[in-house]
Amino acid sequence: MNRLPASFLPSLALDPQSESPMYRQIYEWFRRAIVDGQVRPGQRVPSTRNLAAELKISRIPVFNAYEQLCAEGYLETFVGAGTCVARSIPDEKLRPPVRRGPSGSRKSAESTGPRRISHRGTAFTNFPPQSWLNSLGAFRVSLPALDEFPIRIWSKLVARHSRTLHREIMGYGDAMGHLPFREAVAHYLATARGVRCKSSQILVTTGSQQALQICAQVLLDPKDCVAIEEPGYPGARQAFLSAGSRLIPVRVDDEGIKVTELTGCGDDLRAVYITPSHQYPLGMTMSATRRMQLLNWAAHSGTWIIEDDYDSEYRFESRPIVSLQGLDNCARVIYIGTFSKVLFPALRLGYVVLPEDLVHAFSAYRDASDIFSSTLYQAVLTDFIQEGHFARHLRRMRMLYMERRNMLVRTIDAQLGKKLEVVGAEAGMHLVTLLPRGVDDSAIARKAAERGISVMPLSSCYLGRPVRNGLVLGYGGASPPQIGDAMHELKKLIQH
Ligand SMILES: Cc1ncc(COP(=O)(O)O)c(C=O)c1O
Repeated sequence: MNRLPASFLPSLALDPQSESPMYRQIYEWFRRAIVDGQVRPGQRVPSTRNLAAELKISRIPVFNAYEQLCAEGYLETFVGAGTCVARSIPDEKLRPPVRRGPSGSRKSAESTGPRRISHRGTAFTNFPPQSWLNSLGAFRVSLPALDEFPIRIWSKLVARHSRTLHREIMGYGDAMGHLPFREAVAHYLATARGVRCKSSQILVTTGSQQALQICAQVLLDPKDCVAIEEPGYPGARQAFLSAGSRLIPVRVDDEGIKVTELTGCGDDLRAVYITPSHQYPLGMTMSATRRMQLLNWAAHSGTWIIEDDYDSEYRFESRPIVSLQGLDNCARVIYIGTFSKVLFPALRLGYVVLPEDLVHAFSAYRDASDIFSSTLYQAVLTDFIQEGHFARHLRRMRMLYMERRNMLVRTIDAQLGKKLEVVGAEAGMHLVTLLPRGVDDSAIARKAAERGISVMPLSSCYLGRPVRNGLVLGYGGASPPQIGDAMHELKKLIQH
């Protein structure tokens, strides 16, 4: 390493092995030294010739570094008087303090004074860490069979669109989404889910999580109340928290959310969030009676219903249940869907079907936040749907998930039959195994995560005190050998 004498300037060390070029290292060193007050405004710096000679390098990198530092206002040059630190740089008293640890190292930013964040921000950090979501190991909830995705067809379609990128795919798009895509989605929803809508009512989002977040922002003022299922989807809780909403947990039974309990929720209740086709996480379907009661109550109380239809394409014993939106004659239901489960989560494409009078507010909100979702994948997915690949993939996955579900139920039964009760296995990509009372499901989930097994504790789905403990096991992304091996490990953890 070439060093400049300490008597002249603080030590400047160049690292010839570094990936950062010489000029950049010199530039960074001077900038840091000036910002930290190690060299003072007006202080002369060595000429490029002298510095290059001291460092035993060519003049070019030194010259380039000085030029950059002059352009950014750290150094200034005077004809005949050389180069010095810009005199306009504030002196030490006017600069943010640099805190140093005992060894002279820069201390972390936390020690430089109060660092206030909002109550909402704090509420987020109070959420317990969910270590079980960090891996893609066996039983990761919400994970489809990624290996089974028709990647060759998909890449052909991506290549086709990428080769001929049109202006409307590259430029700014409609906040509501790419029109051909919304038309394809409207058609699919009408035939497969009984949703009644025009393409103009569909807002394309980056997954249903964003859809929930937009609903919370547009429908609710801070401190307004939203009723959520208990137990329910933790991601919805987070979305409503981000809008400053107050959450009211409402119990579910075999027929879905207890509508009679909604009437006692008070006048500040603005919306209710539900998963009627496949309750998350317990898996029951909302009965026809409850659906009627809920729609009736919403129409009379003026409350919005947010229907999250996240995986109802996969129903094994009967035909898919028609959406609640399809039964709603009072335009009270906001319907949310996603391609994360039926295709793959990193696609980040979902949608909201809006009552017509809400379209303007939602579209304006989206425009003000992240404007619109990437158009390229919307165009690719339009072709994927229209050319029949989507329907074919759904049919294949329904069979595959049914086989995986059957194998998981058999394995649980064979290995732990007496200890675990299975619930909610009729549809979707996950089921719940109830644990004997008193067994700590979070502790099992944490230990399982250390072994690369990703089970979700049922207790994490309760806002209040958990009524039951259990494990939510996603089987969509777990191959048969994985299911066998992971159950073997889980058995040891449960029996321990
Ligand atoms: C019930 C439910 N809603 C919404 C989501 C969010 O899905 P995404 O944002 O990937 O579309 C999930 C994901 O697991 C879910 O399980």
